[in-house]
Amino acid sequence: MIYHTLNNGVKIPALGFGVFQVPDPAVCEKAVSDAIAAGYRLIDTAAAYMNEEAVGRSIAKCGVAREELFITTKLWVQDMSYEKAKDAINTSLKNLGLDYIDLYIIHQPMGDYYGAYRAMEEAYRAGKLKAIGVSNFYPHILTDFCETVDIIPAVNQIEIHPFFAQTKALEVMKEYGVQPEAWGPFAEGKHSIFTHPVLTKIGEKYGKSAAQVALRWNIQRGVVVIPKSTHVERIKANIDVFDFELTPADMAEINALDLGHSEIVDHTDPAFVKMIHSLKIHG
Ligand SMILES: NC(=O)c1ccc[n+]([C@@H]2O[C@H](COP(=O)([O-])OP(=O)(O)OC[C@H]3O[C@@H](n4cnc5c(N)ncnc54)[C@H](OP(=O)(O)O)[C@@H]3O)[C@@H](O)[C@H]2O)c1
Repeated sequence: MIYHTLNNGVKIPALGFGVFQVPDPAVCEKAVSDAIAAGYRLIDTAAAYMNEEAVGRSIAKCGVAREELFITTKLWVQDMSYEKAKDAINTSLKNLGLDYIDLYIIHQPMGDYYGAYRAMEEAYRAGKLKAIGVSNFYPHILTDFCETVDIIPAVNQIEIHPFFAQTKALEVMKEYGVQPEAWGPFAEGKHSIFTHPVLTKIGEKYGKSAAQVALRWNIQRGVVVIPKSTHVERIKANIDVFDFELTPADMAEINALDLGHSEIVDHTDPAFVKMIHSLKIHG
């Protein structure tokens, strides 16, 4: 495993394990246990995934020292204000069974996320959160945010994969010292990514799959990846990406797949924003 050093000195693994769309507690608990056994140390959950407790049970029984693990969770839009964020942070700590969270992220730039971030800054200073960050902050939003807040976010987790390379977003993150992290590193299976001819052909040179090539491409761009799978063989294969290196020509060929937009979500669509606000995770 390789690590990046965040802008506050905290180390983050270059590859972690995502648990979005794993609502069944038993499935989630087993997947996280399989991932930790396979060598993953970063687990990416969210209050909105409704599986923090299952992640917490896997952590409790994994046998790996707490300081070796890097646990991320996220603040949902329903709790996006100074007062609500204070409670939400404590709820996530309780759900996960932890006394600190390694990285706590604003899940979406919606609602009163400036107020919520002040609560996160306080919890960070109190040692409850080792690093604080953001997600889905497109370049103009991240720029405004970094020009406003006291503590520059350590991480911005956004959709990044070969079909949405996010070159401009990476430039802005670099300017502010924000670590990029890719959600949907497999484009959630879109674009026939697992059998894509370009990724497959490149992988054949190294005895690697299209999936492994897609992860390696992001890793070589300095982007943290958090692939999700509930299949143990895939979980193992997805972390087996540190024994080969893509050439500049491989990288250029993959860069050429960029469509320049997402085909998963559209944060500029009012219907999407309304849908996100309508998702309630508690009473
Ligand atoms: N911040 C945000 O707004 C946001 C949004 C989305 C996701 N995320 C985070 O990012 C993580 C990853 O993104 P994601 O889960 O949306 O999508 P993803 O990792 O791009 O893709 C997951 C899909 O790929 C399949 N898969 C995984 N490895 C495979 C392999 N080696 N071969 C074939 N199929 C494979 C999985 O199926 P199986 O499980 O059946 O193997 C699943 O259907 C999430 O789990 C979550 O932690 C954050």
